[in-house]
Amino acid sequence: MKHFISIYDIDNLNNLVDKALSYKLSPFKDQTLGKNKTLGMIFFNPSLRTRVSTQLAARNLGMEVIVLNTSQDGWMLEMQDGVVMNGNNPEHVREAAAVMGQYFDIVGLRSFPSLKNKEDDYSEQTINQFRKYSGKPVLSLESATLHPLQSLADVITIREQWKEKRKPKVVLSWAPHIKALPQAVPNSFAQWMNTWDEIDFVIAHPKGYELDKAFSQSALIDHNQEAALQDADFVYVKNWSSVSSYGKILNSDSNWMLTTKKLLGTNNAKVMHCLPVRRNVVIADEVLDSPSSIVVQQAGNRVWAAQAVLSELLRSNCV
Ligand code: CP
Repeated sequence: MKHFISIYDIDNLNNLVDKALSYKLSPFKDQTLGKNKTLGMIFFNPSLRTRVSTQLAARNLGMEVIVLNTSQDGWMLEMQDGVVMNGNNPEHVREAAAVMGQYFDIVGLRSFPSLKNKEDDYSEQTINQFRKYSGKPVLSLESATLHPLQSLADVITIREQWKEKRKPKVVLSWAPHIKALPQAVPNSFAQWMNTWDEIDFVIAHPKGYELDKAFSQSALIDHNQEAALQDADFVYVKNWSSVSSYGKILNSDSNWMLTTKKLLGTNNAKVMHCLPVRRNVVIADEVLDSPSSIVVQQAGNRVWAAQAVLSELLRSNCV
């Protein structure tokens, strides 16, 4: 694995999940793999789970970790090539990424989309500029369009939970929100579910919230949430802003919030969310506080997802 930016960076999904689950059983078995190696984690945006779980994962492998919050600790970076830098950004990514490549063995990046211009956001300029100029493996800590560490933890969680022989039905269900949110988590989840041939996958959302086809691919789409949830084994709840009316909230219909009543037609479905979640806007208290919710287990699995990926990056690039 040269970089970890999307599912296309991995060789075999089930092998990576096996590796993550083996770290869950034995977190310190590779404690010398990352000795004298440093992970730099650069946050252009806030984080709780990704920040902490990835640091824990790196420490389990014996790595040093340095965290940089660019809004407080670093210079604002200019990402465009060939510009006259007489604006607000005093440092260019060409130097900044190259310098970080001198300091770090793996460069982790979190960079959200602006939600103003789809072409700009979907070009993934920030992560691509770091890949180009750092000269080091780049680990996505959530980019403008994808959140692969989250998706790997999601697959791990479904694999752990599912004990039956048949394929589980997994439904990604849009939910209301008060703010316009990125499409990175649903794009990424769809990408991973479409690749994983051990599940049946349905996406439920109101009209106007179609994900970019590059990610939803051939997934079944249902605009009727109740019909989509019928016989579901897993319900992944998530808000996202519109792609076609880029970055806009078209519908804040509270009827799409997940409630206990909505789960009645499911196969006693387990409820997932990447967190943070706004209670009683996205998912009702009665669901989050019930045994149906596996959101905390899902967040816990972020450590093992990150550890499996860091282990692959170290083995391929640093040892
Ligand atoms: N799910 C997730 O990435 O959480 P954070 O934004 O807190 O890292």
